[in-house]
Amino acid sequence: MQELFAKISDKFYQELNYRAQHPMPPMNLIRNSGSIDVAHYIDNMSIYTKDVIEQCMLKRNSKVWEIGCGAGRIANGLINYLTVEGSYVGIDVDPEAVAWCEKNITVRNANFEFYPVNVGNNYYYKEDNQQLNKYDFSYLEDRQFDCAIALSVFNHLKLEDTRQYLQEIGRRLNRNGVAYLTFFTIDHEFFAFQERTKQHLSLNRHKNGIWYGYKRQSFFAGYESTTLEQLLAAANLRILNHSPGSWAQKKNSRIYLDWYLVTSDN
Ligand SMILES: C[S@@+](CC[C@H](N)C(=O)[O-])C[C@H]1O[C@@H](n2cnc3c(N)ncnc32)[C@H](O)[C@@H]1O
Repeated sequence: MQELFAKISDKFYQELNYRAQHPMPPMNLIRNSGSIDVAHYIDNMSIYTKDVIEQCMLKRNSKVWEIGCGAGRIANGLINYLTVEGSYVGIDVDPEAVAWCEKNITVRNANFEFYPVNVGNNYYYKEDNQQLNKYDFSYLEDRQFDCAIALSVFNHLKLEDTRQYLQEIGRRLNRNGVAYLTFFTIDHEFFAFQERTKQHLSLNRHKNGIWYGYKRQSFFAGYESTTLEQLLAAANLRILNHSPGSWAQKKNSRIYLDWYLVTSDN
């Protein structure tokens, strides 16, 4: 038996071990989250949960808000970190993902809550009907959270949705709170990558500083750096740290997407 386990790589063993302890979402939800399979889901859960904890300096009793929580990749990681004095609220437009998280995460961790977001234009899953979404988070309090997370969400959302979410983050973060946000930033390194690899050639400049492409889960929203900085500033979010994304082979990248750590000046 020991010989058998010796043949199994550490990574695979870690996956088996994690699966034995925690229920895993069904494949359709794993894919909607941006993972190709369970192993990728667990890998990304470990990488990003660790990164969020380190970069946001999360405490065990921190209060966390995740926008676009999907099938609980980060929530599943944070259940091993946050104590009952801490809390987590996850929101998503996919009611199936929210229901899965409630049934499998909240049931064992009452301080982890999940809420569906009802939008008239759910262009991540359906055809874009051009309707403008209006978000209502009146069930949340101002300055309720120490940390907000939006991982691989705003790169799939149109300007008006992202603008509203950034405003909400500015409003719901407490004074020393921070937000871990990712984007596709359109900059000279992206254009060099596009030229070199001929990828993303069909992106269109939607309007000044904003680039859109593709459809549904592949919907691509990219922001030029100055546009993004203006969007953050308009929500009273101040940039504390930033790293370029490896998605466009940018130099000094830390993670796949362009990453911003911001704090609220509200
Ligand atoms: C690429 S997945 C990332 C999921 C999760 N953040 C993670 O890293 O595991 C994008 C997520 O954004 C959600 N989403 C799409 N449009 C949204 C919106 N308008 N508001 C909130 N969530 C949205 C999707 O349902 C999906 O779960």
